[in-house]
Amino acid sequence: MKLTIQLSLIFFLLMLVNACVQQEEKDPVEQQVSSLLAQMTLDEKLGQMMQVNYYGKPEDWNEQLKNGQIGSFLNLSGVIDANEVQRIAMEESRLGIPLLIGRDVIHGFKTIFPIPLGMASSWSTEMAEGAMEIAAKEAKAAGINWTFAPMIDVTWDPRWGRVAETCGEDPYLTSQLGVAMIRGYQGNNPSDSLRIAACAKHYVGYGMSEAGRDYNTTYIPEALLRNVHLRPFKAAADAGCLTFMSAFNDLNGVPTSGNYFTLKTILRDEWKYDGMVVSDWASIQQQVVHGYCETDKDAAEKSVLATVDMEMASRCYDHLKQLIEEGKITEELINERVANILRIKFKMGLFENPYVDETLAERVTLTDENLDYARKVARNSMVLLKNEAQTLPLKKTQKVALIGPMTNAPHDQMGTWVFDGDEKNSITPLTAFQEVLGSNLNYALGLEYSRDKSRAGFTQALAAARKSDVVVYLVGEEAGLSGEANSRGIIDLPGLQSELLSELSKTGKPIVLVVLAGRPLGIGAEIDLSDAVLYAWHPGTMAGPALTDLIFGDYSPSAKLPITMVKGAGQIPFYYYRKNTGKPTDPERMTYIDDIPRNSKQLSLGFTSLHIDYGVTPLYPFGYGLSYTTFDYSEVSLSSSELMMKGDLTASCTITNIGSVAAEEIVQLYVRDLVGSLTRPIKELKGFTRIALQPGESKEVTFTIQPSDLEFHNGEAYVIEPGKFRLWIAKDSESGIASEFTLLNEQK
Ligand code: BGC
Repeated sequence: MKLTIQLSLIFFLLMLVNACVQQEEKDPVEQQVSSLLAQMTLDEKLGQMMQVNYYGKPEDWNEQLKNGQIGSFLNLSGVIDANEVQRIAMEESRLGIPLLIGRDVIHGFKTIFPIPLGMASSWSTEMAEGAMEIAAKEAKAAGINWTFAPMIDVTWDPRWGRVAETCGEDPYLTSQLGVAMIRGYQGNNPSDSLRIAACAKHYVGYGMSEAGRDYNTTYIPEALLRNVHLRPFKAAADAGCLTFMSAFNDLNGVPTSGNYFTLKTILRDEWKYDGMVVSDWASIQQQVVHGYCETDKDAAEKSVLATVDMEMASRCYDHLKQLIEEGKITEELINERVANILRIKFKMGLFENPYVDETLAERVTLTDENLDYARKVARNSMVLLKNEAQTLPLKKTQKVALIGPMTNAPHDQMGTWVFDGDEKNSITPLTAFQEVLGSNLNYALGLEYSRDKSRAGFTQALAAARKSDVVVYLVGEEAGLSGEANSRGIIDLPGLQSELLSELSKTGKPIVLVVLAGRPLGIGAEIDLSDAVLYAWHPGTMAGPALTDLIFGDYSPSAKLPITMVKGAGQIPFYYYRKNTGKPTDPERMTYIDDIPRNSKQLSLGFTSLHIDYGVTPLYPFGYGLSYTTFDYSEVSLSSSELMMKGDLTASCTITNIGSVAAEEIVQLYVRDLVGSLTRPIKELKGFTRIALQPGESKEVTFTIQPSDLEFHNGEAYVIEPGKFRLWIAKDSESGIASEFTLLNEQK
């Protein structure tokens, strides 16, 4: 009897081992990972977990590379050095493990595309992918095989300098664009010689930094975390993003680079993510500064247990050996971390092909094709906010005064996070306008730079305006006023830009205001003084030609805002998927500060949710953007007014170009869940598409809605709740006529 049990047990174990072996046989990468791991000493394993900031020459790193003490460099750019450090790692270290060479290739490498917030205004997954494919090629040619992008933090705060790097405020739009960017960097096969690994960052919640002050604390309840902030990261994990970066912020009191809940419980256990997690710069060590860990050793323990595989810049992981000796962590845990690192090195084909062809740069960098693509993306990223009396487009025969600190700012037009782009390659608006207008151009800077507080250039600027038919005034922010650590409490136009605008407006000439900035600025007063407003963000290398393409009507603007534009910082946070509240205000029945009678009773305010100065509407809503033509939207037709739990329904709308120019339109689908076990947003974006229409042409746009699209987290679980929903197919988040459908539990 006993023998039978033992035999059965042995048989069972043999079966199990066999199953595992078969499993591994099926997956050659896993086989390679475990066979390499089995040959590694503990020191070599710990070496893989170190990412070091590169400086100097390859020889300076000889010893550490030979001893297998470095898994990755960051900030190494240059194919000769990259190939040499790879050679030392491959040929002179005991096991020949290639290096990950990482760099912030955020919105282009040499060919600079619009800042991500600009690119997001195109609402074009195709262009986001195409741009990042070019960025990957150019970076690869410089020996880089890994970018720290895309940044898929969702934010509601234009004060936050890093808003420039985001895709805006919406989790759905961010997910779609983030996945497209990952495809652009990595392609279908990350071992492709022209592709690089992507990194979804910053995991997670960083966009909610309090007061929009960079690195600040975040408090995000689980339902909000899952419904908004985690969604783009889930999409990135599902899309096969090879790496993730843990963030700087503390989330609900726990720093995100040592956060067991977000990293281990959600990312690894729930989502089964087996890619590599790198910390942000010294963010493991900063757990000590946060007051969460007493020593660097504690910080290392927290992060390694939370499953951060690689430490960027700081050296807390030097303590891992001691932690094993003390029995606080196991070598098994280290093996898991190192397996994640080796796995992506194998998937990227680095073992077979660690080197980059040194002649590649000549063929793929700053080519005419790349520059044309950058021009196209920039043109599709500029949002037309206002166009009174069809001021735009201008005629090439008009006399134009080109004025303002952003007219000839080759560095600033590239925006933040440009390590490798060279301003010498920038084509500025001045150059592009000169080309189009020749002697019809009257140019005056007016102000030297955005923060300039000198009026010395005003006279010349006003003279240029007076002798022209129209003024094109280019204002905004210098590149250095947005991006990491560059948060602003005041989001107005800096310096004397507004003052010069009011002087220009006194000339009576029509004014086209063009804004080049890293964030949506609070510029209501400036917009009132202007006849047309084009929000160009920081458009990159091809800012000039992209602007003239639109301003002179060769193309119609088509971009739409990926973030709500607020009237001023006091309105923040203001995002379109806000809740209804128990006392919503009808914008038509607003009471403003000056309407309140003196000695009024408390009741005169009406007891609804509002700011008596800002009102209840933003400057421009999410999804907003004009065109040179007009699009007519038909009534929406639903395939049924009922949606079954196992079914789907379609919503269709016919869009007609009723104007006289060809243009593209971004058509948006919004849904509202009227009642939920947690209060639900007043609208949520569920789909979008870009269509091109000739004058007079119509197209039917159809969206399919499935119950899974209506899922949300209610603080306890993901749920799909039956009940009534409203649906809009509209040009922005505030317009359109609602249709209604009911989600039913019954099966048909
Ligand atoms: C930023 C990251 C960046 C890293 C490496 C950090 O300061 O937060 O976004 O990738 O530096 O440069």
